[in-house]
Amino acid sequence: MSYKITFQPLGKTVEVDPTSLGEPRDGLRGGILQIALDAEIGIDHACGGIAACSTCHIIVKEGGDSIPEASDDEEDMLDSAPGLTLQSRLACQAVPDGSKDLIIEIPSWNRNLVKE
Ligand code: FES
Repeated sequence: MSYKITFQPLGKTVEVDPTSLGEPRDGLRGGILQIALDAEIGIDHACGGIAACSTCHIIVKEGGDSIPEASDDEEDMLDSAPGLTLQSRLACQAVPDGSKDLIIEIPSWNRNLVKE
């Protein structure tokens, strides 16, 4: 079953078919970061997606309960992320289960690669 992720403030909605994501590559595990990059939505990912930085910080506005809880590694990294919120996740670690549509906000300081 496919689901949608809308990336704010771009207002760009990506339809995700989990069965067509292909092999997780570069350690991205088919998560939100990989989905965004595949759709040419820039989210910083300085460590390459191994939960060792916090540059892929995103805020999950809606649908967050379809993403399994953060690991200790993710929590540790988020603790050092600027602008932390209760809905904050690391895009490289957040792999939705596909049961809900999501609305994601990319914090302004992570938007420098965003193609308008
Ligand atoms: S890319 Fe570094 S923690 Fe996600």
